[in-house]
Amino acid sequence: MKEVIDKGNIPQHIAVIMDGNGRWAQKKGAMRIFGHRNAIAAVRDAIEGAAELGVKFITLYAFSTENWSRPKEEVDALMEILVQAITDEVPTMMENNIRLATIGDTDSLPGKCKEHLNLGKAKTNANTGMTVVLALSYSGRWEITQAVKEIVKKVVSGEIQEKDINQEAIASHLNTADFPDPELLIRTSGEIRISNFMLWQLAYTELYFTEVLWPDFRKKHLHEAILAYQKRERRFGKTGAQIKPSE
Ligand code: IPE
Ligand code: IPE
Ligand code: MG
Repeated sequence: MKEVIDKGNIPQHIAVIMDGNGRWAQKKGAMRIFGHRNAIAAVRDAIEGAAELGVKFITLYAFSTENWSRPKEEVDALMEILVQAITDEVPTMMENNIRLATIGDTDSLPGKCKEHLNLGKAKTNANTGMTVVLALSYSGRWEITQAVKEIVKKVVSGEIQEKDINQEAIASHLNTADFPDPELLIRTSGEIRISNFMLWQLAYTELYFTEVLWPDFRKKHLHEAILAYQKRERRFGKTGAQIKPSE
């Protein structure tokens, strides 16, 4: 399938809502946490698959603001798995020239998580290949609220004026200021919703939903999603005729 992908039309940024770990485990008669542990193999395969195709950014929704409301044992286990995964994956990221970045309220994460994340980010900071963005304690509304506060502060201090506030100014105050908007969003597990993910950035993103549960997600599913993306006509408000290349 990889062979039929048009290499000239690869999304430069893919966002992924990695959903279905709990159900995957429950189907096997196991605890939800077993599903989270088995999510790592899927993350690895998705990153590798994206890097092979020349994707520049992949943003993975790993933990939402709302996920703090889960049972404490599950939250603790997720944080442990995160620390473990970063420790294990940073050497591979170095080998593959991959940079680690985060979006979200990472200050709210446990100290040990922050420590490992900061180490991983610092270590991979000069890598120039793909950027893996982990969305941690992230939600779109939280991010937009933060941006509004920052902008208001600058207006109050006189650093900027009302006339300076435009779409670019807002985008530059979001956590994703350094990244382009995703062209493609993938959500696994059959849920057809956004769940507070990248509300600003997804304005014109192509949405792709699959029944596959996240721990089962592999390169071939990424390829399927990219192929589906390549069949879409991205019109950005124009008519179909307008965006067809003129003969
Ligand atoms: C996604 O899987 C992982 C996180 C949200 C952390 P879930 O844990 O939401 O799995 P389901 O949706 O309950 O199956
Ligand atoms: C979205 O999944 C968040 C992540 C994948 C990290 P959820 O499983 O938390 O979403 P809802 O609550 O079912 O919409
Ligand atoms: Mg879920």
